[in-house]
Amino acid sequence: MIAIKDLTVKYQTKNEEILALDRLNINIGKGDIYTFIGPSGCGKSTFLYVLSGILQDYSGSVLIDGQIINPKSQRIGLILQNYGLLPWKTVYQNAMLGVKIKNQPPVEEYSNYIFRKLGIDNLLNRYPKELSGGQQQRVALARAFILKPDLLLMDEPFSALDAISREEMQELFLNIWKENNVTTIFITHSVDEALYLGRKIVVFSPSPGRILKVIDNPCFQLDNLRYRDEYYDMSMKLRKILDKG
Ligand SMILES: Nc1ncnc2c1ncn2[C@@H]1O[C@H](COP(=O)(O)OP(=O)(O)O)[C@@H](O)[C@H]1O
Ligand SMILES: [Mg+2]
Repeated sequence: MIAIKDLTVKYQTKNEEILALDRLNINIGKGDIYTFIGPSGCGKSTFLYVLSGILQDYSGSVLIDGQIINPKSQRIGLILQNYGLLPWKTVYQNAMLGVKIKNQPPVEEYSNYIFRKLGIDNLLNRYPKELSGGQQQRVALARAFILKPDLLLMDEPFSALDAISREEMQELFLNIWKENNVTTIFITHSVDEALYLGRKIVVFSPSPGRILKVIDNPCFQLDNLRYRDEYYDMSMKLRKILDKG
């Protein structure tokens, strides 16, 4: 379980102090998927930086299973908005980076399965600069999935994909989530994506980010979602909250 209390983050620039997150309080249950949605600049990425341990300059408390965040002892899979690939390493090396750092035993069978599923099995010897944005995004996904993390943090992970690949990746992600029941925080600015993938939906206010609402999502994994009344009601509700801020 993740317990967040009064989480506040300020950035100091030369001229001003920017309040990015303002006293966030939320508990996130083990094995659950939360989608976080909010307007650009409201602090979504900042929130993930804190949870992943990259950003340590915050006030308030963030505990994962009662412990302070420590990426060395906790297995945290992170997919950053800019993919976070190392340019001097091949696709294969980038994808295996997580398990290598953790000194985990080889996971050839599973990694091959993931490469195939993500459609990057023919790109393994290339370098990031030789890939399209969508392909780079898939490599970042592979790296996070192969790690079999306890906590999966995803920052708009499907944004660079075309509509069809995006739907494929959403399905793949849900399959992997079901196999491993990994606690997931999924950031998106798409109402549709929040509704399809989130068991709970957390709505952020415009900057400085505050939590406006945590919603139990009746649309989670419904078939033919778009044709359902629940979908219509929920997307209206979400848009209203987002509009009002
Ligand atoms: N390194 C930084 N220095 C100063 N301000 C920053 C920095 N990173 C983000 N910000 C500011 O903090 C706020 C939240 O940014 P961010 O977390 O990236 O939002 P989001 O991911 O929701 O678009 C924005 O106002 C942004 O301009
Ligand atoms: Mg962001």
